[in-house]
Amino acid sequence: MESSLFSSLYRFRTAANSFLSQYEPLTLLVAPILSLLVALTVPSFLGLVHENGLKATLLGFIMGSVKLLPGVKKYIDAEKQKVVDKLQSSGKSKRNDWRTELPKAGLGVGTIDKLKDAKMNDVVWQGKCSGTVYIGGSESEGHFSLINEACSMFAHTNPLHLDVFQSIVRFEAEVVAMTAALLGSKEKSSGGQICGNMTSGGTESILLAVKSSRDYMKAKKGITRPEMIIPESAHSAYDKAAQYFNIKLWRVPVNNEFQADVKAIKRLINRSTILIVGSAPGFPHGIVDPIEACGSLTDFLARELGELVVSYGICFHVDLCLGGFVLPFARKLGYPIPPFDFSVGGVTSISVDVHKYGLAPKGTSVVLYRNHDIRKHQFVAVTEWSGGLYVSPTIAGSRPGGLIAGAWASMMSLGMEGYLENTREIMEASKKLQKEVKEIPELFIVGRPDMTIVAFGSHVLDIFEVNDIMSSKGWHLNALQRPNSIHICVTLQHVAVVGEFVKDLRDSVQIVKRNPGPVSGGLAPIYGAAGKMPDRVMVRELLVDFMDSSC
Ligand SMILES: Cc1ncc(COP(=O)(O)O)c(C=O)c1O
Repeated sequence: MESSLFSSLYRFRTAANSFLSQYEPLTLLVAPILSLLVALTVPSFLGLVHENGLKATLLGFIMGSVKLLPGVKKYIDAEKQKVVDKLQSSGKSKRNDWRTELPKAGLGVGTIDKLKDAKMNDVVWQGKCSGTVYIGGSESEGHFSLINEACSMFAHTNPLHLDVFQSIVRFEAEVVAMTAALLGSKEKSSGGQICGNMTSGGTESILLAVKSSRDYMKAKKGITRPEMIIPESAHSAYDKAAQYFNIKLWRVPVNNEFQADVKAIKRLINRSTILIVGSAPGFPHGIVDPIEACGSLTDFLARELGELVVSYGICFHVDLCLGGFVLPFARKLGYPIPPFDFSVGGVTSISVDVHKYGLAPKGTSVVLYRNHDIRKHQFVAVTEWSGGLYVSPTIAGSRPGGLIAGAWASMMSLGMEGYLENTREIMEASKKLQKEVKEIPELFIVGRPDMTIVAFGSHVLDIFEVNDIMSSKGWHLNALQRPNSIHICVTLQHVAVVGEFVKDLRDSVQIVKRNPGPVSGGLAPIYGAAGKMPDRVMVRELLVDFMDSSC
């Protein structure tokens, strides 16, 4: 038995040596090394193709190789720097007199004059900015001054110290409960367990909802390589969450109505999916995703995000950062608003910004969960710290109690009637604005806006050139891509200036029509080029370089 094994091995050795003797020793050395290299690179190449698509992967590879050529990288870097300089041309020169050290002697009350001077040099924002300032009127009167007073009364407080600042703990709980009540918590279908926390803004609310969903799904289903699926129109906070929390992100193109494409989302769901996302509405075009059935009964399942989630048992976050303090009131006022909140069975979490249409001070948002089981995964508890036992609900440790008091004051002072009246005003202003924009033949409205964000583009003009002319007239609008367009997010600041806005828009369109081409100092060429550049790595590098030299 043993001798037959040895003779077989001997025969195999002789045959192998005789076969290999036809090759050069160098070939025999290089071949296995090359095979090893291929074996190592192919899976990561396939991974990249899976993640970014074949075109982007090949392009990245080609661009990466081209940059290795002598002089090419230097040239590209110099061109990039030119774009970065242009992007911040207005900001950089002004920095020359910025302070970099403490004044030797403190300025005392004189500091207030310095603040006033600095404030006076800010550009005019009153009625001129898309979104940005949601409260109407000027900062020294009405609702503004009320919340300023509330903030300053509690500026010294911090809800981290539960035992000291009981008032703030109560304000936070009440802001959360009042917000939840607007979003279905009092309805039987909610399950009666809706809970949440205040955060610093929409981004933090989204980050926390994603983190909690990831950890909840790990505990529930053992998912260790999490993936989430978002529509292309969902806020970039999800990209941040994906990067911070190591989650694979699938970004799915929207459908012809610029809404989440439920069929496309469905195709990407797999055993690692922890979360899908819908917005009500999305930031770019102000359109509410199909959170629940919006089509005929026959394609009910295919078009209902909530239903998908129920059937796959995964988390579903609805981003109500913009809509949370408009849609519930708009519905009460009789506007046609599709379902968007916890009344939809599959919704597991919601983000809603009090500092936008809630008219609260900047730095206030709420993250809500269907139940405590999910929310528990948001908290961080530390048992082994020499600083003692520690538990914190949100990303920040210390938090500004003054802002919580400001949010509470905003909600209490406005009440249901105040929000209803504000909503009526901004909805009517947006409808008027939409109607007027539709009448400008060179422009088209993107999709059918559900709320107060109106996006428009042009088939005949460069819309970014129109934006540059609008900027020269003092307007600050948002430039969008896919399709190239701009939007205005209508707030109480705009109610009185819709006519002025439309007049300036008409004029700007005519100026570009008569004189097409970039205006000096304008950003149209950069926006245009960035949208068309196939090498997205380069665009990303540009953005990072811009940020790096801006702060
Ligand atoms: C729909 C939506 N979600 C999230 C955010 C992020 O909010 P924040 O800027 O407060 O972090 C925004 C901001 O505009 C938004 O419009």
